[in-house]
Parts: sequence; structure tokens; C-alpha cells
Amino acid sequence: MKEQLIRYARAGYAGLFLCTAEEARAESVVKAAADELDRPLHAWSLTEGFVDTKSGSVRACPDPIAALQQVDDLEGNVVVLLRDFGVHFEDHDPVLTRKLRDSLRGARSTGKLLVFLGVWKPLPPELEREITRLDLDLPDAEAFGTVLDGILASADLGNLPPEIREAALAAAGGLTTLEAENAFALSVIETGSIQPIIVAREKAHALKKGGLLEVVETTESLDSIGGLGALKAWLLQRCGAFTQKARDYGLPVPKGMLVLGVPGTGKSLTAKATASVFGVPLVKLDAGRLFGSLVGQSEANLRSAIATAEAIAPCVLWIDELEKAFAGSVSSGSSDGGTSARVFGSLLNWLQEKTSPVFVVATANDISKLPPELLRKGRWDECWFVDLPDAKERAAIWDIVIERFGRERTVYDTVVLARASELHTGAEIEAAFVEALHRAFTEDREPTELDLGKVLSESVPLATTMSESIERLRHWSSGRARQASQADQQGGRGRKLDLG
Ligand SMILES: Nc1ncnc2c1ncn2[C@@H]1O[C@H](COP(=O)(O)OP(=O)(O)OP(=O)(O)O)[C@@H](O)[C@H]1O
Ligand SMILES: [Mg+2]
Repeated sequence: MKEQLIRYARAGYAGLFLCTAEEARAESVVKAAADELDRPLHAWSLTEGFVDTKSGSVRACPDPIAALQQVDDLEGNVVVLLRDFGVHFEDHDPVLTRKLRDSLRGARSTGKLLVFLGVWKPLPPELEREITRLDLDLPDAEAFGTVLDGILASADLGNLPPEIREAALAAAGGLTTLEAENAFALSVIETGSIQPIIVAREKAHALKKGGLLEVVETTESLDSIGGLGALKAWLLQRCGAFTQKARDYGLPVPKGMLVLGVPGTGKSLTAKATASVFGVPLVKLDAGRLFGSLVGQSEANLRSAIATAEAIAPCVLWIDELEKAFAGSVSSGSSDGGTSARVFGSLLNWLQEKTSPVFVVATANDISKLPPELLRKGRWDECWFVDLPDAKERAAIWDIVIERFGRERTVYDTVVLARASELHTGAEIEAAFVEALHRAFTEDREPTELDLGKVLSESVPLATTMSESIERLRHWSSGRARQASQADQQGGRGRKLDLG
């Protein structure tokens, strides 16, 4: 980041907006850049006034326009740090906008650099092309190392074993330095030492507070999924793809997969299991919450979510029910001024360009709401279509569901159950078993195949009520997406859903 600032300063940029919530770290970057450029650094804030950082002299200046006047009066190619200036942009004060344009013009001719520091605020249109936005990178392991050393020293704890240190620093990825410091300190208070698991727990809390990302704890593995043989085999083939060995071998980092399909067939389950295949954390993006009311806020949200995911990497980034968030991007412009189309475009762009070890798993039910460019080559390593389970797959799902509820699978004839549950999804099979458990519980006994058969005969599977939209989804997916179940498995699924 320092090098980037130096390049901009040398190139004669007059206005930069350095976006961050981490003021102290950003300030030290700006100071290091000014030192290296051998330029004096001045800093302004509403509360502290105008400070010459070299001499330490302070002039009171509780007004942004007066601050800009002071900037104009400075001589030479100084660097000026202006804190929280963004909040003044929100006032849409025409005098301030004009003054800023004048000051930036003056700065360009004298080689001054104005760095606006703070949380991103949209600029008035007049200034959009005069001020360049830069996002402060999230701290790296080296920065966390310094914070960790500080905590270890203040708690009189010696050095950590190297593997614990490495795990604690990795667990802090995605946090700000202050958040990491808090997490390390809490770990010392709670356990008397640094425990990576506590740092990870605190990170989960911190991300959840942000509202966009959530670290999901999951125990699901490929063994939790019945059927979907081709998809599972494909994932297994890639299980070592995030290791150093894979990098040394020259394997490209996998990008991710799109999982389309019928509701309740295990798409979300697959996303969870993917994280355990790779042995990395699962981070869920709430795409619906990307959209903010302020101009430019949605794009800023996406950028921040991506930066956090990349700081946590290697990880699986799970975008569930993609179509719900980006519904507006098909009828671009009409519903939301094109915001969702733009945000969607940035997401696709990132997917295409990304080199970081973030494996994206996106799931969707309704392709009619998604733009076709989503399926363009190069975006995903694979697009999968998850259909209704066939007989063999249903039997496998019964086995898993029965064991999930602590019963012996040998007690039931799952081939018979598979036949009785034709057209049912995994979610419906699970719901039927739960219903049978409830009924049997009230009679103080175990559910039987007969009970299950009865429950199944009483329920109307979604596939019958939604036969048309499932047919449409199948038709659309054929040739575009790969079948998630084993190609050689046929039995009671390929037929048309006309139960009339
Ligand atoms: N193939 C499967 N194997 C085992 N269990 C399954 C399978 N499919 C669904 N289930 C069960 O049904 C539950 C719901 O499935 P899941 O949430 O993964 O469906 P989904 O495809 O994401 O549905 P939606 O499109 O409605 O989000 C799972 O938690 C699991 O218990
Ligand atoms: Mg789901």
C-alpha cells in the first residue's frame, strides 16, 4: 500500500481517498510514504486542528473550508492527511465542493498530495473524477505478528510454539489489527495463553457483526450427501488443491462451482461439505445484504466482502440462493437503477480474474432470474445441475437420514423406502422420517417402514406441484450444466413429471 501511495504521489495525483476503518494503521502507512518521499506531512481533524507533524505545531481549525485554506497556504510538495473528510461530503455544501476543486487544482500545480482518510462516503459528482479511491488492504500475517508479540510481551508470556503461532495468525486473517488484538487479549484472559480456536471464534463474531459474511461451523462431509456421485468424485479429485504441494506442482487454484437445481436436493449441504473436503473455513456471503441505500454503497460492500474473504483465504465462500440477491440484474436498470446488474458484474469480474485461494460455491434454484453470462466459460470450474434423486440415490439418502437420527440403517429396507419415496427430494425424505419419528414417539415405540410408507403416501412432493418449473430447469440445464449424479445411474428420474 505504501508503494502504491508513493507511485500516486510521484505521478502527481492531488487527491486520494484512502478508505479504511483502521485509522491508526492507515496513518502510519501515509507517514511511511511521506518519509520515503522526503516530503513534510501535515494532518487535520475537526478536533485536533491542523498539525505540522515535523515541528509539532498546532493551529486550531474546526471547519473543513478553513482547513482547505490552510492547505492552500502551505508551501512546497507537502502531503496533507485530512481525517473524516467524507462526512462533510454528505452535506452537499456547494461552497465546500467548490473550495475543494480549487484546492485540488492548486495542489496539482504545486505537487501537494491531499489524502482523505476514513470510511468510504460517496463523493459529490463534481469530485468523482478528481479524487481517486484506494482501499487499505486488510492486515497481513506480519502485521498480526507485531500485534501478537505486543500481547505476549504485555502478558509476560514467552514465545509460542511455531505451529500455534502460525495457526493463531492464520485464524486472525480477515480481522482489523484492533480486532485481532482484542481476540488475542481475550484468549490470554480466558485461557492464560493464545489459542487459535478462540481467535477463530472471535473472528466469527466480528464478521457476523458486519452483517455481510458469516463463518459457518459445519460437520457435514461428503458422507452426509446421498447421491450426487459425479459432483462428489469431482470434489474429491480436488481435495489437495489448496495445499503447498499443489502450488509447487503448478496446479492452478480452483475458482469454484455453481450448483443449480431442484429445491431440497442438497445444494446447501454440498456447499457445507465442500469446506470439509478442502479442510478450510466456510464463509457464507449474505448476498441480499450487499445492497445498501446509498449510492455506491453496494459496490463498496461487495469490495469489502471480497477483501475479507481473500484475507481469510484459503476458504470456501458460499453464496446461497444467488438468484434472490441478483434478481434485478436481468431486467437491468428498471427496478433498482441498475445497481444489482453492476454489483453482479463486479462479482463476475472478480470470479474471472481471481487468483486468491477462495473457492466460491454459489447455489441457485431459479435460473430465469439469473443473467446468462453467469455461465460463461472461465467463471467456474464447473456448473452442476442437481436433479431429483433417482431410486439408488434415494436409498442412499434414506441410509444417511436414518443414521442422522441415531437409528440403525439395517432395521429398514431402504430399497423399499426408495420406491415409496419416488419424486421426493432429500429434504422431503428427511421431513418424512422426522414426521414418522414424532408419530411413533407419541406411541412410545420406534417408527416402522409401514409408518414411513403412510407418511409418504400422505405427503405431496414438491415435484408434483412444481413439475413445470422443474421440467423447465432440466431443459435449461441440459447442455449448459453437468449432471451432479453419476451418469450411469438411471432409474425413475429421467421421465417427464406428468402425474395428472
Ligand atoms: N442428497 C442428500 N443427501 C442427504 N441429505 C439430503 C440430501 N438432499 C437434501 N438432504 C437433506 O435435506 C436438507 C435440506 O437440503 P439443502 O438445504 O441442502 O437443500 P437445497 O438444495 O439447498 O434446497 P433449497 O434449494 O431449498 O435451498 C439437508 O440439510 C439434508 O438434511
Ligand atoms: Mg439451499
